[in-house]
Amino acid sequence: MVDFFEHRRPSKARLAVLLSGRGSNFQAIVRAIDQGAIWAEIAVVISNREQALGLEFARQRGMNAHFVPVAGRTREAYDAELATLLEAANADLICLAGYMRLLTPDFVRRFPNKILNIHPSLLPAFPGLDAQQQAWDYGVQYTGCTVHFVDESLDGGPIVMQAIVEVKPGEDAHSLADHILEQEHRIYPQAVERLLTVPWRFEGRRLIWGEIAATKPEQS
Ligand code: GRF
Repeated sequence: MVDFFEHRRPSKARLAVLLSGRGSNFQAIVRAIDQGAIWAEIAVVISNREQALGLEFARQRGMNAHFVPVAGRTREAYDAELATLLEAANADLICLAGYMRLLTPDFVRRFPNKILNIHPSLLPAFPGLDAQQQAWDYGVQYTGCTVHFVDESLDGGPIVMQAIVEVKPGEDAHSLADHILEQEHRIYPQAVERLLTVPWRFEGRRLIWGEIAATKPEQS
């Protein structure tokens, strides 16, 4: 039996965020930190797009934020640079938040059980791009979102947390995407907080949460 991973620590956890766009999930995580719901700090934010709103937000907040341009580099060289920045930032968890690039197998292997992603469907249904539109086109009555660990497959790593969204009458793919996004903003910070505070382990692909050890009452 594998021991539980325990992330409880005497100091704040260090979160890294990779993004490519508006960064609303990143902002939801920052809000949770600001509100004291996650005991963590943003150690580094990296974007592959210079114009990403999420990068602008990070810079406005004075965070350690980097634009790493893609042009003229192999995928391997690019990811090696990301890995160097992440290792320098000493990140405990790496949160993909609308990061629109596939990570190389070498990169994924370098950070085992540390990379998280949020995907706008109930995986394993509708992996890949435009998951909300895919679900809408398929005619499902329920969809949702999934926080999962990143492995070498596309949106296929072990599931950490999911939320269900009902497709209501009169809904279109855009309103559905908005309703899913609300749930993303709720469960991504929750999943991060849980992984940082509750012991866990895998049984195969299944993530098993452990008990938080009772603290010993102080002697009077
Ligand atoms: C979200 O829908 C997320 O599920 C997907 O990319 C989108 C990112 O949105 N991976 P934002 O940049 O966090 O606003």
